[in-house]
Amino acid sequence: MWEKKPILLLVLATAAIMVGTTVTMIVPFMSVNTDADKIASVKPYTPIQQEGRDLYIREGCNNCHTQTVRPLVSEVLRYGEYSKSGEFVYDRPFLWGSKRTGPDLARVGGKYPDAWHYKHMDSPRAMIPGSNMPDYGWYKKNPLDPKMIQRKMEVLGFPYTTEQISALADKNEMDAIVAYLQKLGSDIPWRKAAKTTIVGELKNPFVGNKSAIEAGEELFENNCEACHGENLEGGIGPELTDIDMDDSDLYQIIYNGIDDGGMPAFGSLGTNKVWQLVNFLKSGDSD
Ligand code: HEC
Ligand code: HEC
Repeated sequence: MWEKKPILLLVLATAAIMVGTTVTMIVPFMSVNTDADKIASVKPYTPIQQEGRDLYIREGCNNCHTQTVRPLVSEVLRYGEYSKSGEFVYDRPFLWGSKRTGPDLARVGGKYPDAWHYKHMDSPRAMIPGSNMPDYGWYKKNPLDPKMIQRKMEVLGFPYTTEQISALADKNEMDAIVAYLQKLGSDIPWRKAAKTTIVGELKNPFVGNKSAIEAGEELFENNCEACHGENLEGGIGPELTDIDMDDSDLYQIIYNGIDDGGMPAFGSLGTNKVWQLVNFLKSGDSD
């Protein structure tokens, strides 16, 4: 039999492996980074973003974070629009990663205001009490080196201006990482498209329900306190005492967030939890 003919076995085994390779690698790669893939709104990294990207690699952020949202319902609900190959044309090397100790970052750009990132990078536990992400406050002590960054831009063939390069002189590594994070996934206008338009009237299912208010208070501690303060007194976001708004307007703000205002969307918590938050905020009881 052919098992006893080493040469024939070698040829057949190689052929079998080649079929697999062709189907799973060569064919898909033919359609990667072709013109059909290009997205006009995807722009190369600016000098400060590129520097942030190199810091991301240097610090091994990719060992804890992925940068690709798979086309699965659960991922799209949690992170946003799934990743398109055309969004990665300027990534050299790509940072898709494979380990999610922390959340995926492919759509983090524009999710939070800059101030949130500065505080979170400085001390993740100040914003998310249970976080095991290391502190990167020392980034602030390291100034950027404009000459080095200019050379990187030349090597990569990315456009830059002399103003962009000279502006780096009074920036530090913290500024660079935040600039990079804010670029991630924000080249395509997916946030607006992801908004749910609410048809018909919204009805608060928990009016006067005490346990819904308590549940809302706990949700507030875990999701909102970092920006709106322990006693709703405000911080990165505005104070939320005496909310004078319809239940349904409040619901929509929490569900969809506020574009360009830095208020993230919390629709992924699900309808019930968003209503519990509405009831907590309307209860005027922050202790
Ligand atoms: C040991 C693993 C680990 C490392 C290393 C790490 N992170 Fe994280 N990161 C986490 C975890 C866990 C969270 C979720 C809790 C939190 O927000 O702090 C997180 C959250 C984040 C978030 C918020 C994401 C969101 O959608 O809320 C950002 C942004 C982030 N990390 C950036 C970075 C950057 C930049 C680096 C490298 C300089 C880094 N992380 C390194 C574990 C890590
Ligand atoms: C990353 C910081 C951040 C987090 C986390 C956050 N918010 Fe906000 N929020 C903001 C900012 C900034 C604004 C102001 C946006 C604007 O008006 O443009 C805002 C505005 C609001 C408003 C509108 C206030 C008004 O008077 O118009 C409400 C209501 C609100 N947030 C509720 C919440 C709730 C509930 C949560 C938790 C589920 C939450 N926010 C989490 C930053 C945050």
